[in-house]
Amino acid sequence: MKKFREMSIEERKIYLESLGIPKDSLNIPALTIEDANSIIEHVIGVASLPMGLVFGRINGEDRIIPLAIEEPSVVAAANKAFKLSDGFKAWANKSEMISTIYIKTNKSKELLETIVKLRDRIEALAKEKAKRMEKYGGGFRKMWFESLFNHRGEFIAFYFVIDVSNAMGANMLNSFAEDMAHELEFLLGEKAILKILSNLSIYRKAYAEATWSESLEQDLRKRNMSWEEGIERFLDVVSIAQTDVFRLTTFNKGIMNGISGVAMAFGQDWRAIEAGAHTYSLIQRKPLANYWIEGNKLKGKIEVPLAVGTVGGAIKSLPHAQASFQISKIKSAQELSSLMAAVGLANNFSANYHLAIEGIQQGHMKLHARNVAFSVGARGEIVEKIAKKMIEDKNISYEYAQKLLDEFVE
Ligand code: MEV
Repeated sequence: MKKFREMSIEERKIYLESLGIPKDSLNIPALTIEDANSIIEHVIGVASLPMGLVFGRINGEDRIIPLAIEEPSVVAAANKAFKLSDGFKAWANKSEMISTIYIKTNKSKELLETIVKLRDRIEALAKEKAKRMEKYGGGFRKMWFESLFNHRGEFIAFYFVIDVSNAMGANMLNSFAEDMAHELEFLLGEKAILKILSNLSIYRKAYAEATWSESLEQDLRKRNMSWEEGIERFLDVVSIAQTDVFRLTTFNKGIMNGISGVAMAFGQDWRAIEAGAHTYSLIQRKPLANYWIEGNKLKGKIEVPLAVGTVGGAIKSLPHAQASFQISKIKSAQELSSLMAAVGLANNFSANYHLAIEGIQQGHMKLHARNVAFSVGARGEIVEKIAKKMIEDKNISYEYAQKLLDEFVE
């Protein structure tokens, strides 16, 4: 049987149908400009991105995860890491998010004492305001507060932890903050100057871990490298991200290639995800993923805050997001975030592996060659022919692609 990447787009759809994926979900209509106009403002067009599939064994099941991205090699890298692994495990916390309210005051000490006395009342109000989440298994969970001081004065910060179930939760948390702020202003006689969710969802994290052994050893052998040398090189490369902030940023960027790519395919707020992930890495003072040797295997683990939803937001309005849910058969926010964490770890493994073994450009440029051919105007089969020739001749450049295109179309 042909490999998925060798199949034509039609053959891929037939293959996916044979796996029980509904035919309808494989003919993804573009968002119409009229619908786009109802989603955001000042619309003049619709931007689209390529969407590819990642195949991975996660929690003992074969999963198919769509990923939307403009960068070649990300889909290939994720697939490769899954293929070389012994399988992934992934899981996620409950959907507990944080809603914040900041009060400005010039008597923060006295105010803190009052808040301590009123705590039960404030908690009862918070429970009431988040009540509509209870029928979905969510609701208010806990709160804390503290004083903040800066060049503008004294403030009291309130942090309310609310389980938003299968929603990403931004609208719910912002409405909660605004409602709750009125109550606090009334109770405390001070002005709430800021009411907004926090995108640092420290309680809503997703995790994935995986081991690599025989298949990785075989891959190393193909490259004339022993397991010992390959693993030493890999762990050295990973260790740089633990000590150098310049590498840390790029290391985490590679993780977000996978996570944000999946987020885009599923119509999620990838800016919220990026913001939360990078701050989390910063406050933890470590990269989002780590690797070590366990027994005779290489083991990796990722831990990342991931606020995603299966309901609300623009999901219903975006045809590609609807299709992604059907193709992946994902049913809950926790399932989505755990698979995203797995893809993030997969991308990170591949990036570090290639950096350690051969450098990234060799593989990258091969995949980029098709992009270069397309950019100079090649279409259809000619794209592949030009890319192949540029790779053979070790000259992947726009000038050479143009020259080849001129020759091919003559
Ligand atoms: C490129 O998009 C991502 C990498 O730079 C990630 C990394 O360096 O780990 C390859």
